Amino acid sequence: DQNKNFQWEVDYIFRSPDCVENVVMGINGQFPGPTIRAKAGDTITVNLTNNLRTEGVVIHWHGIKQFGTPWADGTASISQCAINAGEYYVYTFKVDKAGTYFYHGHFGMHRSAGLYGSLIVDVADGLKEPFHYDGEFNLLLSDWWHQNVHEQAVALESNPFRWIGEPQSILINGRGQYNCSLAAQFNNTSGACSIGKDAQCAPDVLKVLPNKTYRLRIASATSLSSLNLAIGNHKMTLVEADGNYIEPVTVDNLDIYSGESYSVLFTTDQDPTKNYWISASVRGRLPKTPPGLTILNYQPNSPSSLPTSPPPIPPAWNDFNASKSFSNKILALQGSLVPRPPPRYNRRIFLLNTQNKINGIIKWSLNNISLVLPPTPYLGALKYGLDGKAFDKQNPPENFPRDYDIMKPPVNPNSSYGNGVYRFEFRSTVDVILQNANILAEGQSDVHPWHLHGHDFWILGYGEGKFTEERDEKNLNLKNPPLRNTVVIFPYGWTAIRFIANNPGAWAFHCHIEPHLHMGMGVVFVEGINQIKKMNIPDTALTCGLTGKLLVHNRGRG
Ligand code: C2O
Ligand code: CU
Repeated sequence: DQNKNFQWEVDYIFRSPDCVENVVMGINGQFPGPTIRAKAGDTITVNLTNNLRTEGVVIHWHGIKQFGTPWADGTASISQCAINAGEYYVYTFKVDKAGTYFYHGHFGMHRSAGLYGSLIVDVADGLKEPFHYDGEFNLLLSDWWHQNVHEQAVALESNPFRWIGEPQSILINGRGQYNCSLAAQFNNTSGACSIGKDAQCAPDVLKVLPNKTYRLRIASATSLSSLNLAIGNHKMTLVEADGNYIEPVTVDNLDIYSGESYSVLFTTDQDPTKNYWISASVRGRLPKTPPGLTILNYQPNSPSSLPTSPPPIPPAWNDFNASKSFSNKILALQGSLVPRPPPRYNRRIFLLNTQNKINGIIKWSLNNISLVLPPTPYLGALKYGLDGKAFDKQNPPENFPRDYDIMKPPVNPNSSYGNGVYRFEFRSTVDVILQNANILAEGQSDVHPWHLHGHDFWILGYGEGKFTEERDEKNLNLKNPPLRNTVVIFPYGWTAIRFIANNPGAWAFHCHIEPHLHMGMGVVFVEGINQIKKMNIPDTALTCGLTGKLLVHNRGRG
């Protein structure tokens, strides 16, 4: 097991991700940020300096559990104080499990501003993956707006509300094309792109040899978009989801929601005199953004020779049956590499996902509470017993009224702000039933990818309408449910997950759609309170809010 050290500086930089110059967040001048590559068991240290000058920053290591290091989770107001302009913070954590991960900003809307990069963990020395491949590529997917995130954030908080709209471009490894198309010859909606191959928006071409098997690692850091990914003429076999092995399943295209990652294998068994498209198209929302495209380049063809057939056509954006059938195909790998869930839960909570209004401003709520993060990080507040001062003492509701009609807009659209936490007994088994519902407007229910920090969970099932124990309990999958850290809820449906509360800390559980989180769509889970009280949390994580005052006071006395 090795130590890997990185010195990073976060800055705003000029960049043209989609051929239009803009300001993005860069790390050491790079966008997307540098890829971290490590082996399971390694310890990563990132010394992160905030060069933003006028705002705080943090980085979250999405999918890394942070056992024993909850202060390195990188969530502002939950695991640490945002790092002040000009200051630094040292993240030290162990990567315990091989898989495809990524990292991103977790303060304000920094992920939408471009603060993200890949984190790839290989199996430990001497171990092998349960599949074979000759080479691999990494695709980090994102969506991009020309409007800067400060303006987006203000829009989302305004009365009357202003929605940010659909992204201008889909980026693959930080590269996309606005107002022109690589595939212009096959559609007449936009002209052909003329971009030099060194341009910042030139596609990242994947160079392959015929008759080999490649692993494609795909992660979605999108702010809003659900995507469908396909490789023209090639099938893909899914083998990993969110850092866990899955039963191999072969597909023509795959859905990927924000916060998810997959590994797929594909074989270069097509006509080797041609190149092929890789496309990432918008799903689940009326697509106003053209697909992100890149090229699979069979050697020795020229990388600039365009594929001779049109890019793959994704399922219709609103074909939710296709999405559901895809999600239901993801199951844990047979055998002992993926643990199975405990057969019973100790506690089950329900979270009703609704859109509401508070003082006329549109919010997202869970059981009618919209999350507003407090100025003191929960982890420090819990350590120093500041419950009730630093955040609401009262636990948020664990259920919603039985007679709530999820098919209709909320009858009482007013909700309230809150910042209480759900407390779980250490090592208990917790079920969460995420219940979707109609939004404020009649006849619409949105897709939400929910992500849990600090844990993987088993996806016990998805269903239509309102979850009822009488009807749905017996259909939950306890045999081979996939283990993941992100799961989607479909319009007007429910999703059931189970996890073990075995990681002392304070953990965000939230919709991974950045504007939805910004509008309050999250909750905080706490477990292992006795362990938290004994933790040596670095002071540098807590020098804000009430913990900041406490530390100054203690030092004064010391
Ligand atoms: Cu990738 Cu809390 O998020
Ligand atoms: Cu959402």
